[in-house]
Amino acid sequence: MNLETTYLGLRLRNPLVVGASPFCDNLDSALQLQEAGAGAIVMRSLFEEQIVLEQRALNRLTEEPADTNPEGLSYFPNYESYQLAPDQYLRQIVHLKSALTIPVIASLNGRTLGAWVDYGRQCEACGADALELNFYQLVTNPAFSAAQVEEQMLAVVREVTKTVRIPVAVKLSPFHSALPHFVAALEQAGASGVVLFNRFYQPDIDIENLDAMPIIRLSDSSELLLRLRWLAILSAQTKLSLSSSGGAHNTQDVVKALLTGATTVQMVSVLLKHGPRILSSILHDLEAWMIKHEYSDIDELRGAMNHSRCPDPAAYERANYQKILQSWVI
Ligand SMILES: Cc1cc2nc3c(=O)[nH]c(=O)nc-3n(C[C@H](O)[C@H](O)[C@H](O)COP(=O)(O)O)c2cc1C
Repeated sequence: MNLETTYLGLRLRNPLVVGASPFCDNLDSALQLQEAGAGAIVMRSLFEEQIVLEQRALNRLTEEPADTNPEGLSYFPNYESYQLAPDQYLRQIVHLKSALTIPVIASLNGRTLGAWVDYGRQCEACGADALELNFYQLVTNPAFSAAQVEEQMLAVVREVTKTVRIPVAVKLSPFHSALPHFVAALEQAGASGVVLFNRFYQPDIDIENLDAMPIIRLSDSSELLLRLRWLAILSAQTKLSLSSSGGAHNTQDVVKALLTGATTVQMVSVLLKHGPRILSSILHDLEAWMIKHEYSDIDELRGAMNHSRCPDPAAYERANYQKILQSWVI
C-alpha cells in the first residue's frame, strides 16, 4: 500500500500532517507524533508581536547604565506567557530537525512585510523544510477594502518566496469573497500550497459581567464540510498543494478530504483530545479502507470526487441549494 504523497514538493510518507499547535514546543511529543506515523509537522506560529516585544525589552535593557537597579529586569515583558520566544523558536527548529526524520514546517504570523521576510529567512537558515504563512487577521477598518487586504497578502507572499528557497504554504481564512481568483493569484505570487482553513476563535459573551470571553473550542467533524466544499472546487482548478485543516477527526474524514482533492490532511483537535497514538489507528484504518475499495496508491483516490467532473459547478451548487430548501416541508 503506497500512502506516500508530495506536499509543497516535499515527499511525505503519508498525508497526515500535525497542524500548527503546541505539540512541537516539546521534542518528546514531536517524537511521539513521528512514531505514531505523522507525515510532517507544523510548528505553532511565531508572531511578530513577540519579536517586537523582545527587541523593545532588549533595547531598553542595553540603554540602561551599567549599575542599573536589577529591577530593570522587570522591563522584560511577561515572557512566561509565550511558550516559545523568537530565539527559542528558531532553536526549536534546529532541535526538531536534528531529532526528526519527517519534514518540519515553521509557521509565521507577521504584521509588517519586513518581519515576514526576515523571520522567513531565519526559519530557513535554521533548517525548516517549509514555511506556513498564517494570515490570521480580522479586518475591522472600514477604509480597508477586500482588494487591499488581498494585495497586502500577495505582497508578503511575493517577497517571502523571493527571499527563501524552501516552499511556502499560505494558511487562509474561509472568508474571501472570490477564493478561486485569490488562490490563482497566490500561485502566481510564488506560493506552493494553501491550507484550508484557519479557524477563527470566536469569543462568547458573559451576560452577567458584560464581558467578552475568549475561548478555544476544539473542533468536531462537522467543521470538515466547509473544507470539503472548497477542496472539491479548488483541486479541480489549481496545481497548488492543498492541505485540509479543520474538522478531521477520523479515517472517514481523511478519506473525504482526499477524495475532494486534499494533498494532506492536518489535524490538531483530535490529537489534543486523544494524544498522538490516534494517528496510527487512523493510518491503519485508512489502509483498510483503501484495500476494501481497491486502491493501492493514495494518488488514485485524490480528487476522485472533485468538481472536474461537473461542467458547471456554480450552477450545480445553486441547484442543490434550492433543492435543499424546497425539501423542507411543514
Ligand atoms: C491550542 C491550539 C493552538 C493553535 N496554534 C496555532 C498556531 O500557532 N498557528 C496556526 O496557524 N494555527 C494554530 N492553531 C489552529 C490549528 O492549526 C488548526 O488550524 C485548527 O485547530 C483546526 O484544526 P482541527 O480541527 O484539527 O483542530 C491552533 C489550534 C489550537 C487548538
